[in-house]
This record gives sequence, C-alpha cells and structure tokens, in this order.
Amino acid sequence: MEHREENWNLPADSIPPAMSATEYEVWQKFIQDRCGLYFTQTRQRYLRQRLWERMRLCAIKSYSEYYRYVVYNSRGGDEWAEILTLLLNNETSFFRHVPSFDALARYVLPELTKEKSRHGVTSMTMWSAGCAAGQEAYSLAMTFLEFLSSTPPIDEKGMSRTSWQLMVTGTDIDLPALDKARRAQYKASEVRYMPEAQRNRYVRVVSEDKGVPSNYKVVDTVRAVTQFGHLNLIDPAYWVSAQDVIFCQNVLLYFELESRLAVVQRLCQCLNPGGFLFLAPAEVVGLKLPGIQLVRQPDSLIYQRTSYRP
Ligand SMILES: C[S@@+](CC[C@H](N)C(=O)[O-])C[C@H]1O[C@@H](n2cnc3c(N)ncnc32)[C@H](O)[C@@H]1O
Repeated sequence: MEHREENWNLPADSIPPAMSATEYEVWQKFIQDRCGLYFTQTRQRYLRQRLWERMRLCAIKSYSEYYRYVVYNSRGGDEWAEILTLLLNNETSFFRHVPSFDALARYVLPELTKEKSRHGVTSMTMWSAGCAAGQEAYSLAMTFLEFLSSTPPIDEKGMSRTSWQLMVTGTDIDLPALDKARRAQYKASEVRYMPEAQRNRYVRVVSEDKGVPSNYKVVDTVRAVTQFGHLNLIDPAYWVSAQDVIFCQNVLLYFELESRLAVVQRLCQCLNPGGFLFLAPAEVVGLKLPGIQLVRQPDSLIYQRTSYRP
C-alpha cells in the first residue's frame, strides 16, 4: 500500500499511484538501456513522481500501460523525449569544478601546446561530454582563450599565438538543454560565480531589470569556436574522434559501475595520443586501461592517453 499520510495537503491526483515490483524492474531496465541512468530503490519514489507527471497529461493510469504507450505507440518517441527531460539532472555552472579548470590552465594546456608546437601543430580540440546548457563547453573555450592571451605573442618555435585554432564541442542527450546552450544566454544568477576576469571579458549584458543586469550572452569570439550536438553517451555507434581534452563531469553519477566504465573506455578512445580526460573526482575509481595513465593534480580526476589506442 502507498503511504499517503505525508502528502495529506497535496491534491489527490498529484500523488503517484503505487508501482509493482515488476513495473519498477521494467521501467528501471528500459531507462538504463536507453540512456544509462540507473534508478536504485532509494530513487524509486522520484522515478514514480516524474513518470506520473507525464502519465496524468496522457490520461494514463498505470505504469504498465504507460510503458506500452512509450515503447509501441507511434508517439512514443516524442513521449520518451519528454520523460527524459524530466528524469535528467541538468545542474551545471560556469567553471563548475574549479580544481579541474585550474589543472587545465596551469598544467594541461601548457603541456599540450608545447608538445603540439614541437610538431608544428596549432589546432586544439575540446569536448564537453554531457554539457547540459553549455556552461562547461563555454568555460573550456574561455580557459583556452585566456591561456593564449597570457602566452608570449610568438613562442620559442616562432609560432604566433594567433595561429592556434580551437574547436570546442558540447554534446548532451537532452534537447532543451542543447537549445539553451546554442542560445548562449544566461541569467545574472548563472554567471554570478564566474571568475571576474572571465565575466568581464567573455559575457555581455543583454538586458537589465531596473538598471540591474538580468541577462548575459556569451561573446561572439567564444561562440565562434564552440558547437553543440545531440549525442547519447551509451550509444555504441558514436564517435567523436581526435580530442585533445575531454570533460565528462557529473554525468556518470547515476550510472551503474559497468556502464560508467564502458563510457569512460569509449571516451579514452576518442582522445588523441597525449590527450586528457577530466572526470569528476570519485566518479570512476581505480580505472585501469592499457595506454591510459592517471595524472596527479590536486583534487582532480584526470587521465591521459599515452601513445597507443586503449
Ligand atoms: C549534472 S549535468 C552536468 C553538466 C556538466 N558536465 C557539469 O559538470 O556541470 C549532467 C548532464 O549529463 C547529461 N546526460 C545524462 N545521461 C546522458 C547520456 N546518456 N548521454 C549524454 N548526456 C547525458 C544530462 O542530460 C545532463 O545535461
């Protein structure tokens, strides 16, 4: 029986119906197969609430019937996109994990640019895998532009800093999040914690409320080097090749260990030799892959691809 006492002050139809053990298993497996998210028992209540939000709109009363609708109805694909957006956690911010961005600016970019210059290469590719509304991808671009502006105009190999070509790719499974990423417009509260230097240089006020900035837009120099695309990280068919830096942070938290490892292995295969993969600390522990080594940087979880394919 459903315990309804704690919901006594909510309208009756906002309380999700009980879910049988079979219904729970069917939905749990379906969602995991489609996007990797794994709803443990402790998150079952959250799952029921989200499904029920959509079921009410579709006038469907049982989780089994709703499952059949999503899987077999011709509108099931659109319905799945709606549920997915409700189930995903899109929390993000500019320069979210400060130690990772510090390590990128102080260790990884100097290493990569030095090594590439040695070989006469002046292109840099970065990928924010699970970019949500784009802040992580833009933060990568800003970090690189900031790094270049602090390097000598001509390096010891005689290469000009203006010759560097950057391409940052942000991908996500969530289409509404990608729309926002492409618009590149953020509320004042979303840029509040950007480092001041970057905020002054890389975002512009686009609207004010009673004389106070309320909306900002990422400047064209950053947008010009950033692109976004729809990609499901558990889809075995994807390939985003030849990346120098990959950030995949706070994406795998709700994946089972096996799926986490599979995604990380694919990401490693998308790295250029010498490229770096940044995960969120504790997201994957004790990864051991041939050709991949742990990079020791404070409070960060970074792997580097050595010369051969993992
Ligand atoms: C909590 S946000 C993290 C955003 C950003 N990486 C950060 O650290 O701030 C997690 C993002 O991962 C995305 N995501 C979850 N599962 C995914 C999958 N299978 N493929 C691609 N993106 C996925 C979600 O849509 C969401 O935007």
